[in-house]
Amino acid sequence: MTTHPKPHLQAEATHLTAVSRLDPARKAALGQFMTSPEIAHFMASLFPETPEVACRVLDAGAGAGALSGAFLERWQRGGLGFTSVEAVAYEIDETLRGHLAGRLQTYPAAKTQIRAGDFIELATQDLLWDTFQPFTHAILNPPYRKIGSQSPHRLMLRQIGIETVNLYSAFVALAIALMAPGGQIVALIPRSFCNGPYYRPFREFLLSRTAIRHLHLFESRRQAFKDDAVLQENIILRLEKGGQLGPVTVSTSTDSTFADLVSAEYAPEQIVFPGDAESFIHVPATPELHTPTLPWAATLADIGVQVSTGPVVDFRLREHLRKMPQTDTVPLLYPAHLAGGVSWPLAGGRKPNAIVRNQDTEKWLYPTGFYCVVKRLSSKEEPRRVVATVIDPAAFPQAEKLGFENHLNVLHDSKHGLPEALAHGLAAYLNSTGVDQAFRRFSGHTQVNATDLKNLSYPSRTQLLTLGEWAMGQPSLTQSVIDGQIAELKT
Ligand SMILES: C[S@@+](CC[C@H](N)C(=O)[O-])C[C@H]1O[C@@H](n2cnc3c(N)ncnc32)[C@H](O)[C@@H]1O
Repeated sequence: MTTHPKPHLQAEATHLTAVSRLDPARKAALGQFMTSPEIAHFMASLFPETPEVACRVLDAGAGAGALSGAFLERWQRGGLGFTSVEAVAYEIDETLRGHLAGRLQTYPAAKTQIRAGDFIELATQDLLWDTFQPFTHAILNPPYRKIGSQSPHRLMLRQIGIETVNLYSAFVALAIALMAPGGQIVALIPRSFCNGPYYRPFREFLLSRTAIRHLHLFESRRQAFKDDAVLQENIILRLEKGGQLGPVTVSTSTDSTFADLVSAEYAPEQIVFPGDAESFIHVPATPELHTPTLPWAATLADIGVQVSTGPVVDFRLREHLRKMPQTDTVPLLYPAHLAGGVSWPLAGGRKPNAIVRNQDTEKWLYPTGFYCVVKRLSSKEEPRRVVATVIDPAAFPQAEKLGFENHLNVLHDSKHGLPEALAHGLAAYLNSTGVDQAFRRFSGHTQVNATDLKNLSYPSRTQLLTLGEWAMGQPSLTQSVIDGQIAELKT
C-alpha cells in the first residue's frame, strides 16, 4: 500500500473556478474537461525520482495547466530531484492559454514555454522534419474525440506511421514518439483502448515502444460510484519509453480522494498475454479480488461453437416488425424478453415481439433450437456483466424460426441450435463469477461483444456437456451453486 501526501490545493482551485466559466459548446468541441487538483497531484506522484537529470516535460492539451502545474509543484517542493526543468505546454484555446500562462508563472525556477496551436499539427511537423528536442517526461490528460477516417488529423498522423481513431490515442502516440529513451509518460485516458478492436494499431504502437509500469483504476463495488462514469471509464497509466518488460503496479481507489488506495504488482504477461494477436491490455480487478486467469484451455472454436451478434437490426427491418405474433410471423427476441429466463411474448412491452417471415427477413432468422444468448448490455441492477440465458424451443412451440435482435450475442453451431446440454453448460459457465471477473479485467465498459466471448477460454466440450446435464437437473441455479459446481470440474 502506497500513500500520497495531500497537497496544497488553493492555487489550482482558483484556476478551476476560472475554467468552469468556459463556453460550453467550445468545451465539448475541444474536449475541455480539466483534471481535478487531487488527480493531478496523484499523477505527478507517479513519476520516479531521477536525480541529476535535466528534465524536459511535455503537457499536450495543457488546458489551464493542472498537470504541468502539479508536476512543477512536486519538483519545487524537492521531489523528483531534477537539476533543471523545462516545461513545454501545448494548448489550442486562447482563453485557456491565458490561465495556463498564469499558472506556469507561479513556478519561477522552471523554464516554461507555451506553444499555441494544434498539437497534432505541430508535433507531426516536428517529427517529420526532425525539428524537436526529445522530452524526458510527459504528463497528459488529452482531449477525447473521434478522428474521422479522412480527416486532416488522420492524414497528418498517417504520414508519421500513427494509425488511430481518437484524439486521446493520437496525443499519447505522439508523446511516445517525442520521448527520449527512458522517457516517462503519465496519462489519464479512457479505458476503451485496452480492448477495442479499432485500437489495436495503437496498442501495438504503445506496446512495441514502451513498457507499462503502472495502471491506476477507479473502482468500487459500491452502488453509488457506478454513476461516476467519468472516473469509472478512465485509467491512469505510466509508460517508460524503450523500457524492458517488468512488473506492473496496478492500483485502485474508489474515487479521486485516493483515501483507500491499494496497489499490487503483476507480471507483465498477466497484463498482456503472450501471443495474443489482439494485444489486449488486461487490467486486473481490485487486487484483493484478484484470481488467476481462467484455468481452461479450450477456445469456442475447439468446442465447435460460434458466436454472432443478433442479426436482426430492428431499425433496418422496421416494416417487418409486429407488436404481437400473427400467422405470418416468427418470435423476435430482445434483451427485455430475457429477465431471469425467457418471457415471450411480452404484452404491453415497448419492443415488438415478432417479425414477419418473408424473403426479406429469412436470411436474418435462425432455425428454432437450443441456443445460449448473452446480453450485450447488462442493466445496472445486474450484479454480473456477462448474463447468459438458454433459449429453449419449448417456449415457442409453433415457431420454425427465431429472430435474435442486435442487442444479443448468440452462441450457435453454424447458425443452428446447439445440443440442449451444451447450451445449458455454456450458460452456466458464462454466468459464473470466474468469467465475470476475467471479463472485468480486460473490459472497462459494460458492453459484452461477440469478440469478447470469442476471446474467453472455456472448459472442454465434454466438460460443458456434463455441466449442462447437471444444470438441467437443478431446481434453482443460484450464483453459489453454479460457482461450486464449476470448481468441481477438473481443469
Ligand atoms: C481534457 S482537457 C485537459 C486539460 C488539461 N490537460 C488538464 O488536465 O486539466 C484537453 C485540452 O486539450 C485542448 N485541446 C483540444 N484539442 C487540441 C489540439 N488539437 N491541440 C492542442 N490542444 C488541444 C483543449 O482545449 C483542452 O484544454
